[in-house]
Amino acid sequence: MTNGANNRGFWGSRMGFILAASGSAVGLGNIWKFPYIVGQNGGGAFVLVYLACIALVGLPIMLSEFTLGRKTGLNPVGAFQTLRPNTPWVGIGFMGVFAGFLILSFYGVVGGWTLAYVVNSITQSVSHFSSSQEAGQFFGNFITNTWEVLFYHTLFMGLCMAIVIRGVHGGIEKACNILMPALVVMLLLLMVRSLTLPGAMEGVRFYLYPDFSKITPQVVLLAMGQAFFSLSLGMGAMITYGSYLSARENLTSATLYVVLFDTLIALLMGMVIFPAVFAVGLEPTEGPSLVFNVLPTVFSNMPFGAGVSVLFFALLAIAAITSGISLLEAVVAYFIDQRGWTRKQAVLVMGSVIYLLGVPSGLSFGVLADFKLMGMTFFDVVDNVASNYLLPLGGMLTAIFVGWVWGTREAHREIERYETKFHWGAYWEFVLRYVAPVAVALVFLAKFFPE
Ligand code: TRP
Repeated sequence: MTNGANNRGFWGSRMGFILAASGSAVGLGNIWKFPYIVGQNGGGAFVLVYLACIALVGLPIMLSEFTLGRKTGLNPVGAFQTLRPNTPWVGIGFMGVFAGFLILSFYGVVGGWTLAYVVNSITQSVSHFSSSQEAGQFFGNFITNTWEVLFYHTLFMGLCMAIVIRGVHGGIEKACNILMPALVVMLLLLMVRSLTLPGAMEGVRFYLYPDFSKITPQVVLLAMGQAFFSLSLGMGAMITYGSYLSARENLTSATLYVVLFDTLIALLMGMVIFPAVFAVGLEPTEGPSLVFNVLPTVFSNMPFGAGVSVLFFALLAIAAITSGISLLEAVVAYFIDQRGWTRKQAVLVMGSVIYLLGVPSGLSFGVLADFKLMGMTFFDVVDNVASNYLLPLGGMLTAIFVGWVWGTREAHREIERYETKFHWGAYWEFVLRYVAPVAVALVFLAKFFPE
């Protein structure tokens, strides 16, 4: 019955928790990944499927993860172990910790790219391009440069480790306090710039006009994977963050804030990117390089572009760090709580293992570009396995666990422990028990057994 957060440290304030959870959710997933996946999968129709996944699958699972975390005060493995000791359900936790390893390994690489672009913005090398081709060439040269990529990847992982060593309060909360509002203002500003570029309307159309012939089981799977990835769900990161809550917080409104905020940032970013993509004559299907080619081209063509570029990439790098630390924290919490490691040991050892696992991902665009597994680069394999399979599977099992095994009655009791009224309790219970698990299962079935 006790809240284990008491002896593990906890968030400084209610707002602190919401900001930290938003800090985990908002990151490269919204700003780098969302636009390129939308671009590769047909635009508007994908966005609608994505929004449906958020409302029907993401929202109920986020509240479930927070509830599991606050109830048990533990990491993903410990949470399931406490509620159903020595049953296979503990496997959800282990799968989560494993997914955390995989995701952070390639996340750290892209986080490194953002740091490189902060530095390149300061030296003004990425805000004076005369064409999008030139911007693309610059990016291409960068990601094929082994030593540069390694250097910034190392820097990014080092920063994440340095913060997580100091524990959850302190840095994480404070950074998010400034970051979140600043990011919204920045995106609004860039949206205005994009929308006023000549030719922007074609991009708006691509982004908002749904062409349903583009929807296939594979596209739905990607939209669902992206929903899990963007909301930081399916691996227990939100269980871990929930475990640092003191009991008096209102979980239901925190869930709504985080989901709305994360979705708002992603949608805004789409409105920044797509008008610009068409205006500067790039293809929306370009993939991971999309944002890095489009935005510097836009910055090169706007007043104060050099300054805006520094600010934008700095905000993006911070957003990536606040997400990276939540991934590392979930892994580290397991080794501290369940294995009795010290925080320092856990961060140094696991951080290094994850870092090393990321190295081949980092080289996947350069010296390892021809090294293919199942037709994909190392980077793509790790991303695909973790984001599109492990996260939805972990999320589905979490929904089944909370909805049917631990039970919504117990969960409700925990949620309402300090809340007068859980207004959308009936909706939550319904989507959690029926819609979310069935939706994930159907998507997997459609993917593996087409027809
Ligand atoms: N949600 C983050 C983003 O959008 C990434 C992230 C952080 C994450 N923690 C996670 C993804 C846990 C999956 C699971 O960039």
